[in-house]
Amino acid sequence: MNGMEKHNDRGKPWGGRFKEELDKKAEAFTASLPFDCRLAEEDIQGSMAHCRMLVKTGILTAQEGDLILNGLQEIGGEISRGEFPYDLSLEDIHMNIEKRLIDKIGPVGGKLHTARSRNDQVALDLHLYVKKELRETEKLICQLQEVILELAEKNLEVIIPGYTHLQRAQPVLLAHHLLAYFWMLQRDRERFLDAFKRADLMPLGAGALSGTSFPVDREEVARELGFGALYENSMDAVSDRDFILEYLSCSSFLMMHLSRLSEELVLWTSHEFSFLELGDAFTTGSSMMPQKKNPDVPELVRAKTGRVYGNLMALLTVLKGLPLTYNKDLQEDKEPLFDSVDTVKNVLSIYAQLLKSVQVRREKIAAAMQDDFSTATELADYLALRGLPFREAHHLVGKLVRHCLDEGKLLKDLSSDELAAFHPFLGSDEALARLSPENAVWAKKSRGGTAPAAVRRQLQAAREALKKL
Ligand code: ARG
Repeated sequence: MNGMEKHNDRGKPWGGRFKEELDKKAEAFTASLPFDCRLAEEDIQGSMAHCRMLVKTGILTAQEGDLILNGLQEIGGEISRGEFPYDLSLEDIHMNIEKRLIDKIGPVGGKLHTARSRNDQVALDLHLYVKKELRETEKLICQLQEVILELAEKNLEVIIPGYTHLQRAQPVLLAHHLLAYFWMLQRDRERFLDAFKRADLMPLGAGALSGTSFPVDREEVARELGFGALYENSMDAVSDRDFILEYLSCSSFLMMHLSRLSEELVLWTSHEFSFLELGDAFTTGSSMMPQKKNPDVPELVRAKTGRVYGNLMALLTVLKGLPLTYNKDLQEDKEPLFDSVDTVKNVLSIYAQLLKSVQVRREKIAAAMQDDFSTATELADYLALRGLPFREAHHLVGKLVRHCLDEGKLLKDLSSDELAAFHPFLGSDEALARLSPENAVWAKKSRGGTAPAAVRRQLQAAREALKKL
């Protein structure tokens, strides 16, 4: 029996030191191929860069390099055409590709793994993948922001009740309310872009944990693959998964924001609010109640937020007890990552469509604006403007509201005499004018306020912010 046959004892690239077969259940349990086959493209890209560097540094000959590069190229084709013979017994995508390479070009294929371990290889693939998905997610957020801006611009005159504690508080522009979400998403984009810096570190060359004795050129690999910097510590390079956590935590923030917006869509499309109607194409019916039109999409976005938080918690928990450096536990980084990438990208693209389908029910909103006390603060502000201490003015208008409630009236139903009975200033036309929602909104001219002029300025700032990042 020669050394090579021994190497193939269990049909494993690492089979040399084993006598017994790997238990089938253990084989399936330890394999990551069913999910890490997603990293095939990055794996080939990384291997090609590694191979070119091995040639440049004289570790491999140019001829060996060409054979390997051509083989990898062919394998890439097989994968994209769906012709690649995946083999679960080879554990993961990395060893599947390596084995295929050796099958295709012979033992020289085994030279690709010179100066490399799967530990730095998988780290490299993950960095390439996360960098790509950070960018793609950021782009999708941008598209959603654009739709929010359009909806705000189209409804610039619409006044809605603003809420605190979900109780009517003060009137605001619908555009102002919507733009609040624009800025949340802007911070989300900033977070994703900032996370990119930490994903932009190149781990290859760390070997299994301690570096490599071959004269590798890590800078060259980083340059070829478009990395901004290198890991300075080989042990950190193979055990760091912070960049994945960052994708998951940025996603959690993003989903939290979309979940809040979803909650508002669910409320606002209810009969009780009737502020909005979602397009038929984005709503579903009931199997029993013929009249139903259900906001399933925002409801599911709200629910999927839990799943994205869960993925973050899952990985934080995997990492918290791990000694340096690579531990098999790290293989559990992939499913939470892939699941969040899929969920978040799916949610972002459907959300943009959903918001495009929204109809603003202007008459219903206008009617809703008529029956509350949401301009009471305007009267208190007016009295304060005329010189009363605000605290006294507040108390006085509170009494006025109490009076209305006892009489079953609204503020605007009171005559100027009735108003003047509470305070002579309240009998003036100016005071009465303050009761209209339009005037209340127009008055909020402070920077970042809801006055149309301030909101137009905000829209302009939003347009610029969207272009900038
Ligand atoms: N499938 C493994 C993972 O995803 C690849 C790295 C394996 N390294 C090792 N020493 N077993 O983490």
